[in-house]
Amino acid sequence: MGQPFIILNSTTVAEELLTKRSGNYSDRPYSTLIHDLAGYEKWHIALLPYSNRWRAHRKHFHSSFRIREVEASREMILETTQEFLNQLESTSASPERFRGHIRSYTNKLITKFVYGHDQPMATQDPLISLLDETFDEFNENVFSKLFLVDVMPFLKHVPVSWPGAQFKRMALAHRSKLYYIMDRMYERLMSTITEGTAAPCVVTRSIDEAQQSDSSGTLSAEREQVIKGNAMISYVAGTDTSASILANFFLGMSMYPGFQKMAQKELDQITGTTRLPDFEDKPHLPFVTTVFLESLRWNAPAPVGVPHRAMREDLYEGMRIPAGAVVIGNISAMLHEAQHFEHPYEFNPNRFLVDAKGEIRQDLEALVMDVFGFGRRICPGRHLAMNSIWITIARVLATFDIAKALDKEGDEIEPQARFTVGITSHPVPFGCRITPRNGDVLAG
Ligand code: HEM
Repeated sequence: MGQPFIILNSTTVAEELLTKRSGNYSDRPYSTLIHDLAGYEKWHIALLPYSNRWRAHRKHFHSSFRIREVEASREMILETTQEFLNQLESTSASPERFRGHIRSYTNKLITKFVYGHDQPMATQDPLISLLDETFDEFNENVFSKLFLVDVMPFLKHVPVSWPGAQFKRMALAHRSKLYYIMDRMYERLMSTITEGTAAPCVVTRSIDEAQQSDSSGTLSAEREQVIKGNAMISYVAGTDTSASILANFFLGMSMYPGFQKMAQKELDQITGTTRLPDFEDKPHLPFVTTVFLESLRWNAPAPVGVPHRAMREDLYEGMRIPAGAVVIGNISAMLHEAQHFEHPYEFNPNRFLVDAKGEIRQDLEALVMDVFGFGRRICPGRHLAMNSIWITIARVLATFDIAKALDKEGDEIEPQARFTVGITSHPVPFGCRITPRNGDVLAG
């Protein structure tokens, strides 16, 4: 409908436009259905236009998720990782269940970091299940579709009872469900604060900070809305993406047992097989780090990121980019550029090594960071994601062998490197055998 779309397939161009010129490319496309009717323009940081509201959300997000905060939460991350290892061990005989465990793990990690909520991984949190359902339903009904109201915004005024207003009924219902969940999740935490049992987390720290910075010691409604919105979006943006990288890792390890053995040998030399690896071991575990980097690169969880928008007309190498153009960073294409990553569709951690001494190629490591997007909109949850995924990979490798699943005849089933297509992407379902290799260390 006359809307220009520009797709950037190269990291060099994305760096120039989305990062160096990010003053012009940090806006998001606007949808009357999503932003206005479904209410996302009030709280959804990832889709907020480049505005003062976005700046307030981003500032809060940045201060809650910077490296310092993540490092201060290492104990919590390690405890949650241990629960994941225990889950894997208790169900190691049912290889098909490990994907569910990965998702329960990332759910728990984020909800504990943000809300201090300590839901045992083996159980379902009804609010989280409702949130998942609400988003799944909306994504299915809305994304990749064009609504007339987005072409003719005045249609948002049609009465809800009008037979053709299905779009409006659906958006308004979604909006009230999301506010219901956002409020319940927040209230659940507030009641633990009142009882004096709240665990320190992003929300408690944010409330304290907001109250301290306010001369009357109160939390303004505006600040509270930022805290509530950011807390919920952390779950939405952080759990599925992190689970996708961990699934890449399990797939890569089952397809390429040689790399798994190399990483385990390196780990055993450092830990002496008498303890679990820790964050401080990272500088001495370069091969484990290359397995982590390759798991990030192989299949991006958000293959085309979140669309950016040019606010003013621009010129790039003689090409005109009109004001209002939607500019998409094709992350998946960038992470498979053959000039940087030879045989890009193969899982090969060795590509990151300078030499046999284990020095990591800084240039390629920097390119892999494209998986988190660009410029002022770069993923603010990346430090939490990278720290938690790295330690999970190291501890899984230290304690388990990951092998191909077996068929009824006992023959190995060859897994395929196939990934789903969509706003987010994951390996298509596959089985693998996960067996403890170091029971004493696993028991802690
Ligand atoms: C491996 C895991 C993750 C990947 C691959 C990932 C990837 C991305 C990408 C590609 C973007 C869009 C950046 C752009 O517009 O250029 C993004 C934005 C975002 N991510 Fe992540 N993410 C991950 C984990 C997380 C986590 C753990 C959180 C929070 C707990 C998080 C919160 C966000 C938020 C709030 C935004 C929107 C930022 C904005 O628009 O200003 N992400 N992420």
